[in-house]
Amino acid sequence: QDLTWHEICVLADLEDEGVYGVELGGLPIAVYDVDGEIFATHDICTHGLARLSEGFLDGDLIECPLHQGLFNVKTGAPAGAPCTEAVRTFPVKCEGEKIFVAITEDAA
Ligand code: FES
Repeated sequence: QDLTWHEICVLADLEDEGVYGVELGGLPIAVYDVDGEIFATHDICTHGLARLSEGFLDGDLIECPLHQGLFNVKTGAPAGAPCTEAVRTFPVKCEGEKIFVAITEDAA
């Protein structure tokens, strides 16, 4: 499958919190730095209307700022109550300082 890559931010954007929120054509995306490896998910929690990029990243888990639910940012899988539904993930690649995501159709 050929992916179309979109440049969304640079590594320096992730330096402070390890997580950074961007919008790509109206699609909110959270970008994460897990020990130098970059991942991306949809930025809206599957439990309620909260931005994961405003939450707290601990290792590969993002804690939602609203009810402290958890997701694994590598897989999108829910990892702590009250979250039960996976958050969508996106393929990521880096070229130098630049971070790109591909918007795939699969909802997982
Ligand atoms: Fe994210 Fe409730 S809105 S845990």
